Amino acid sequence: MQVPVMNNVGLQELSSVRLKTTSEVARLALIGILQNAFSGELAAAYAYRGHWKSLRDPDEREKVRSIENDEWVHRANVLRMLIEIGSAPRRIREVRAWLIGRTIGFGCHLVGWFLPMYFAGRLESQNIEEYEVAAGHSRVLGLERFVAELRTMADVERDHEAFFRGKVANHRLLPVLRSLFRWG
Ligand SMILES: [Fe+2]
Ligand SMILES: [Fe+2]
Repeated sequence: MQVPVMNNVGLQELSSVRLKTTSEVARLALIGILQNAFSGELAAAYAYRGHWKSLRDPDEREKVRSIENDEWVHRANVLRMLIEIGSAPRRIREVRAWLIGRTIGFGCHLVGWFLPMYFAGRLESQNIEEYEVAAGHSRVLGLERFVAELRTMADVERDHEAFFRGKVANHRLLPVLRSLFRWG
């Protein structure tokens, strides 16, 4: 059987289509993550607002309050990136995030000390991953300024996670939660 031989023009066209497809996939993936993260930061910020207000220890209150501030900064950064790549937040996710954040924030006053600390740490570990993956897509798209910023944001989430991890480290309920939710 004869294998068709592609000439140089054909190969160039094929590779340009492939490049276009790769960058379009990366762009869509990046937009999806940023839209998710934008609303996720809203939920996190309101959840942390309830969390720090529910704490008694002054150092813990101050730390979680500063984490809330970090999440607002992240949200502003993510919005700027979304606009820069020609996209926008999704209203339905915003509404859902607002409800989730407010509910968790309120719930922190009811469920005691350990669970909010545990689930905050678990959430932070997912945020690290989210920003690292977004940095990878930005690299594919040649958006180097995004890469640096997203890595910095991932590092901040890493610090948040480390704080919560340290808090729950010796708690008697940790082994049970770890086996159920795979974090800690
Ligand atoms: Fe964040
Ligand atoms: Fe965080």
